[in-house]
Amino acid sequence: MTMTILGIETSCDETAAAVVRDSREVISSVVYSQVSLHQPYGGVVPEIASRSHVEKLPGVISEAVRRSVLGVQCSDGKSKVADVCQDAPPTTDHRTLNTLADWSTIDAIAVTYGPGLASSLIVGLAAAKGLALRLHKPLIGINHIEAHIHSVFLSAGAPMPEESYPLLALVVSGGHTLLVDVPRPGAYCVIGQTLDDAAGEAFDKAAQLLGLGYPGGPAIDRAARLAAPRQDLKFPQGRVRVGHHLVTCNLRPELCVSFSGLKTSLMVHLRNHPAQGPGDVSAIAASYQEAIVSALAERCDRALRSGNYRCLAVGGGVSLNARLRVRLLEVAEHRHVRLLLAEPKYCGDNAAMIAGLAGTGCGVRGPVALALDATPSLALQ
Ligand code: KG4
Ligand code: ZN
Repeated sequence: MTMTILGIETSCDETAAAVVRDSREVISSVVYSQVSLHQPYGGVVPEIASRSHVEKLPGVISEAVRRSVLGVQCSDGKSKVADVCQDAPPTTDHRTLNTLADWSTIDAIAVTYGPGLASSLIVGLAAAKGLALRLHKPLIGINHIEAHIHSVFLSAGAPMPEESYPLLALVVSGGHTLLVDVPRPGAYCVIGQTLDDAAGEAFDKAAQLLGLGYPGGPAIDRAARLAAPRQDLKFPQGRVRVGHHLVTCNLRPELCVSFSGLKTSLMVHLRNHPAQGPGDVSAIAASYQEAIVSALAERCDRALRSGNYRCLAVGGGVSLNARLRVRLLEVAEHRHVRLLLAEPKYCGDNAAMIAGLAGTGCGVRGPVALALDATPSLALQ
């Protein structure tokens, strides 16, 4: 029996809704990015994010459902819409509201309930609960990190999930940097992580110091393409000493990173040697990026060497980084595992990964889902 799920995602600064059939077939995907709202502040302002979700989510959901109806009606499969609306927020008025008939193809509503910003999560969760109750559809609570791992299976060329285990997953975004051992579907063991700043945060902070603007990851990626890393400028690669008090549970120190020293080291460098023009900025950006990429690639290499994996799955906004993609491909080839990268449109936050994961049977289901609270520090279990 096919299962068509509406996914809703508002954990940070993207307002997203998507309709996915049978966990992998994206029928519609709408993402409204708030980047331009946060740009003047150089980072996500929770209050602004939350207000914007309240304003945009109804229109984003309507649009995703409307597009899914168009897609479902065409049997050739060519009219499926998986668009990303960046700065063209859908508006909600009486013309864009869905009819009850539009909802008839949706079997369940899935929503991110953590981790993320409390004030942002709450908006999507409240909307999803309201829809589930009003439409008498089941509600499924989804872990955002778990969904980033599932995002690799939304690509057309991806293998079937059941052929990919055991897999090693790297989730790298603005809020998370995790290395996860996934022996079978739905079983997760975090074996490495950042002990302070996430990789995306390290990119964002460096871009600010270099005057490259926000968001920093894409800006550093672009700048770094214009120059080679400077041989005389080596940034620390976030090594974590054995016995570090934050390395607990199943974490392995050799698979953990600490990126806060990297940013300090850039700050000290720029204080002593202010950048001399755009060429110098590019070279410094390339050196800095190399430190982050090398740190991540090295942790993946170590984990692959010590485990028996079939695939390396990589998701999250930072996985858009061109240099990281190249290095991870080298690592995967060297260790004879298949590299599964999320398609660019599913690397950053989106709702297709939420609906997709819900379609695999994962997530919090049944009456308890309706009692879920937004859980900002939800762990991966
Ligand atoms: O997954 P995401 O959209 O949102 C979170 O869940 O955080 O990731 C956003 C992060 C930002 O820190 C951004 O700077 C980073 O992903 N990012 C990149 C690139 N594109 C986005 N980092 C490095 N290189 C990129 N090309
Ligand atoms: Zn994310």
